[in-house]
Amino acid sequence: MEAGDANSRQIDDDGDKSDEEEKEDRATQSLLNKLIRSNVVNNTNQVEVLQRDPNSPLYSVKTFEELRLKPQLLKGVYEMGFNRPSKIQENALPMMLAEPPQNLIAQSQSGTGKTAAFVLAMLSHVDPSLKWPQCLCISPTYELALQTGKVIEQMGKFYPEVKLAYAVRGHKMERGIKIKEQIVIGTPGTVLDWCIKLKLIDPKKIKVFVLDEADVMIATQGHQDQSIRIQRMLPKGCQMLLFSATFEDSVWKFAERVVPDPNIIKLKREEETLDTIKQYYVLCNSKEDKFNALCNIYGAITIAQAMIFCHTRKTANWLAGQLSKEGHQVALLSGEMAVEQRAAVIERFRDGKEKVLITTNVLFIPFSSVCKFCIDVEQVSVVINFDLPLDKDGNPDNETYLHRIGRTGRFGKRGLAVNMVDSQRSMEILKTYERHFNKKIARLDTHDLDEIEKIAN
Ligand SMILES: Nc1ncnc2c1ncn2[C@@H]1O[C@H](COP(=O)(O)OP(=O)(O)O)[C@@H](O)[C@H]1O
Ligand SMILES: [Mg+2]
Repeated sequence: MEAGDANSRQIDDDGDKSDEEEKEDRATQSLLNKLIRSNVVNNTNQVEVLQRDPNSPLYSVKTFEELRLKPQLLKGVYEMGFNRPSKIQENALPMMLAEPPQNLIAQSQSGTGKTAAFVLAMLSHVDPSLKWPQCLCISPTYELALQTGKVIEQMGKFYPEVKLAYAVRGHKMERGIKIKEQIVIGTPGTVLDWCIKLKLIDPKKIKVFVLDEADVMIATQGHQDQSIRIQRMLPKGCQMLLFSATFEDSVWKFAERVVPDPNIIKLKREEETLDTIKQYYVLCNSKEDKFNALCNIYGAITIAQAMIFCHTRKTANWLAGQLSKEGHQVALLSGEMAVEQRAAVIERFRDGKEKVLITTNVLFIPFSSVCKFCIDVEQVSVVINFDLPLDKDGNPDNETYLHRIGRTGRFGKRGLAVNMVDSQRSMEILKTYERHFNKKIARLDTHDLDEIEKIAN
């Protein structure tokens, strides 16, 4: 399985999670990513483009002007602070705006500008003088649909003739009264109702169909079938666009069913590495012992920010209490918090309002993107595995280990990771991480202040 941003695993006091809950997490993680993202994610990999017709010229653009957008839309794009197309947009936008319309399947990690790209395409294709739905976009959850709706509203700010309708739960509509909005964003179930049961939308008049977050979509029971049923009602010439952050086989199969004759754009995710990370382990007997080791580390080196991972909420709470008593400003992040609350906590940490973040969550957000100071050469930032990462069966979880402490190329300045080992079993697990990544994890004696000081250099 590929490590997707929208992919989250979580081990907590309440034990194993059901499949349903894990799937829910995927959507939550995707939303969290959106809420805390302040800018487009850079990616130094090459975009792969597979054209349906390999003989047609391949266009890419380096500026928004080249796209000959409606002035109202160009203004909207600039007002959002976009100066130039993101990497995926360079290729995707000319394809989506081409005449005759072309179908597209695009995959790139979250934050690379997919949503902004199809929103621009939808707004470009709409004829505002026609008072019926022409663009239909489906999202996996209520919250994600609202987020995308916001982007449509922002980008279309100077194009007020274009109206947007939200086909989401709780939006009660009367049967048979056709809606006038040109763009509809919604979740599959409600969109299906609006098309079939309530007959508010005439699917035959749809010109652009967008299926966003396909990987999250198929992880939700029923969404796959509903999406296919919607797609089947659309007319032949309708442009079909599908986006996904990850591309497992299941997503790929689904994409091929929903998008006939597609162009394909792929941008490999920027891999994290441990190359610039100094890794240590500390031998401890108990959580009190671990806490003391932590205090010794804090006593010896100046730590800009630290992220501390615990296995259970109980340990996390306890540790937060202990560190607070020591005078640290501590932020606590856990699974039972609402997603907006979690986003707020991460934001505060990123802004440096708290210097320590304790979490039980497997954050599929790289430390380097939430740590304000970790690219600062003067101070160190540390990731502490207060408990080593395990999968839900209690086995080593390489992916999570890498994601917790790894950095992507450009942020690769340096990093420090300390693993607390408290049993024979956790020592064995540490060894498997050492072997898997073929990187030495050195022992650190936290009673020796001089030795600790050295690790910061
Ligand atoms: N060309 C661009 N220039 C600057 N910021 C952009 C650009 N395209 C998108 N963004 C911003 O980057 C973030 C991620 O974009 P989004 O379209 O949501 O990515 P994705 O759908 O791939 O997750 C958003 O905050 C968005 O406003
Ligand atoms: Mg998106």
